Amino acid sequence: NKIVLAYSGGLDTSVAIKWLKDEYDAEVIAFAADVGQNEDLSPLEEKAIETGASNIYIEDLQDEFMKEYVFKGLKAGAKYEAKYPLATAYSRPLIAKKMIEVAKKEGADAVAHGCTGKGNDQVRFDVSFQALAPGIEIVAPLREWEFGSREEEIDYASKHDIPVDATKENPYSIDRNLWGISIECGILEDPWAEPPAEVYQITTAPEEAPDEPEYLEVTFVGGEPVAINGEEYEPVELVEKLNEVAGKHGIGRVDMVENRLVGIKSREIYEAPAATLLLDAHRHLEDLVLDRETYHYKELISEKYSELVYYGQWFSPLREALDAFIESTQQYVNGTVKVKLYKGNSTVVARKSDDSLYQENLATYEKSDIFNHESAIGFIELFGLPLKVHGKVHND
Ligand code: ARG
Ligand code: SIN
Repeated sequence: NKIVLAYSGGLDTSVAIKWLKDEYDAEVIAFAADVGQNEDLSPLEEKAIETGASNIYIEDLQDEFMKEYVFKGLKAGAKYEAKYPLATAYSRPLIAKKMIEVAKKEGADAVAHGCTGKGNDQVRFDVSFQALAPGIEIVAPLREWEFGSREEEIDYASKHDIPVDATKENPYSIDRNLWGISIECGILEDPWAEPPAEVYQITTAPEEAPDEPEYLEVTFVGGEPVAINGEEYEPVELVEKLNEVAGKHGIGRVDMVENRLVGIKSREIYEAPAATLLLDAHRHLEDLVLDRETYHYKELISEKYSELVYYGQWFSPLREALDAFIESTQQYVNGTVKVKLYKGNSTVVARKSDDSLYQENLATYEKSDIFNHESAIGFIELFGLPLKVHGKVHND
């Protein structure tokens, strides 16, 4: 028996190592991924072995995470329920995929994760595992074990010499990666309670943000951001940089009650400075370069896409098909957007593109106007005809 466990070094997944060994009589191989949670993962090597794992894999997935997951969602304009930029949701299928690779290499017959039985993450992991390795056994210790409370779990840990950080327990559940942070639990479970200042990890409170606005120019090629103020960046560095600058200006805080896939409504706090700025800038560039019908149709796709990602359907034929559509729309999404950062807002104030469909001589109210006003009259006549007929029959 060999089990590959998604391991973070925290209490749950540390206890899970010991618990899996005992309950499943299994050898446990730990898997830890760097998705930009801003944590040094190297101490996990020793910690996992000390806790009883037979081996540990630590993989830096940041680059793949940005290019193959997050940027696809950016091009799709994806936000769940129009607010949540989906940071946690993108990371699960990627981690699941890498765990299956390790499982195959190690000849493991099972995979395990530390998600609870009430959330979305269990669904994302399990559905991804099933899609990529249909026969594999899936174990979720937190859905099975019988600790009634955090204290009981800690007791179990100390009884079995499982090293857990002595530092005071954080009252919040926090999941962080490059695209954003998800924060739950504690006082946040009361939707009428304003989040205390301390819950925010990477954004300045808007009221404490700099009094001077800051301008950034973000350049996109094929719908992907490639440069800031004319300086080119690789995806990971670009997003890091924007998290820092936009975070400083208090941009990207989301406080919402969302609909989980399992039917529960939950109150969530998100911080996603780079994501918020980029999604907004990208959309404003699309305003300029996409023809009207593609633009409108893409909005429908975007909503569906967000739902698929949130629901853990990453490895589905529909997600791939929608990506093919989105990719085809992005060929003209090239250009630069100027954003003004100020006290919690990133506001697009200018945009330009060689592929711009904006024609000043069509739009202008000045003399240079070339729009044919005669044809407007005929157009409106026919466009309004159905309503005119309806009016004649019912309103006259
Ligand atoms: N509600 C968010 C989502 O479904 C955040 C989940 C946070 N996960 C966590 N393990 N703390 O994507
Ligand atoms: C969990 O339940 O493990 C975290 C929350 C979620 O997945 O939605």
